[in-house]
Amino acid sequence: VIRTARVVVTDHAFENLDLEAATARQGGAEFSAFECVGEAETAEATFGADAVLVNLAPITRAVLAGLSPGAVVIRYGTGFDNVDVAAAEELGVGVSVVAGYGTDSVADHALALLLALLRRVPFYDRAIRADGWCQPGAFGPLRGLSGLTVGLVGVGRIGLATIDRLHGFGCRVLAFDPFVDPTALGGRPVELVSLPELLRRAEAVSLHAPLDDATRGILGAPELAAMRPGALLVNTSRGGLVDETALADALEFGHLGGAALDVFEAEPLPADSRLRTLPNVVLTPHVAFFSEGSAALLQRSVADELGRFLSGAPLTGLVTGRSLVE
Ligand SMILES: NC(=O)c1ccc[n+]([C@@H]2O[C@H](COP(=O)([O-])OP(=O)(O)OC[C@H]3O[C@@H](n4cnc5c(N)ncnc54)[C@H](O)[C@@H]3O)[C@@H](O)[C@H]2O)c1
Repeated sequence: VIRTARVVVTDHAFENLDLEAATARQGGAEFSAFECVGEAETAEATFGADAVLVNLAPITRAVLAGLSPGAVVIRYGTGFDNVDVAAAEELGVGVSVVAGYGTDSVADHALALLLALLRRVPFYDRAIRADGWCQPGAFGPLRGLSGLTVGLVGVGRIGLATIDRLHGFGCRVLAFDPFVDPTALGGRPVELVSLPELLRRAEAVSLHAPLDDATRGILGAPELAAMRPGALLVNTSRGGLVDETALADALEFGHLGGAALDVFEAEPLPADSRLRTLPNVVLTPHVAFFSEGSAALLQRSVADELGRFLSGAPLTGLVTGRSLVE
């Protein structure tokens, strides 16, 4: 008896999963979808699955151990910090990601957040709603992007797209990326510096590195203290790069001028997080990747990878079976 393959979606951000369901059907597989958040429910939903499509649910060793032999995990996205890739390698589970589907969208969002902080858009919006109107200088001096020194941590696809936007606004760009090949910068005027130098000089810092053992907490209390007084922080990468308690302190006690965050250590951001109440913080709910074009491309790319898996064709987005530092 040939067992029917099982395709499980642990969690997703889309209106529907018609494409994925149709791909599973074409491949002769069963299809089911869940809204898993925690590890236990993820393990239960995926037990015995052959293909797991995942957005943010935790794909831990325990979850991976419950999958069928030779299973694959396909991530709706670029980062794979919610998947224990080392355990997957050991257990013979493939892990595949979609790279580059939302580069412009994330870079746009990083600029939207930076401009919102610089031009204090949320402050004026709140003031008009609460008080009817306010003076231009009500929230202190304003500045623009022209001549601003912006430091990027990580200059891969999204970092480069962000640099192009910053240059369009007349910014000076510093970058820290220990793995970047300078030729990848394509002649863009960017000064590659150490992280301490970047923190010392940048008036705004934007994070574009993946979350891994080396970047977890890369902005802790000492690094935030080393930033310029009044500096701004934008994070569209992963919440785990920043120590959120130290960040809330740096904002509350006035060392930093503001932070605009799309990603958090825990998502949804806990109800009692101080970041929710500090005035000089702009929050968005992990939407940087999301635009009409990018969401459609992401879903199409994941469905195509699923189709390849079910038909036995080579996968194109594998991060297992290769050195993780390229
Ligand atoms: N908020 C969102 O919706 C959203 C969407 C897509 C991607 N992301 C995040 O953005 C990240 C970057 O995406 P990308 O497509 O540009 O990836 P990428 O792999 O093209 O670029 C990542 C860059 O980070 C650099 N890097 C690695 N370790 C570093 C370190 N220790 N210090 C500094 N730099 C380091 C790499 O050398 C590389 O140049 C993803 O890993 C993901 O976590 C977030």
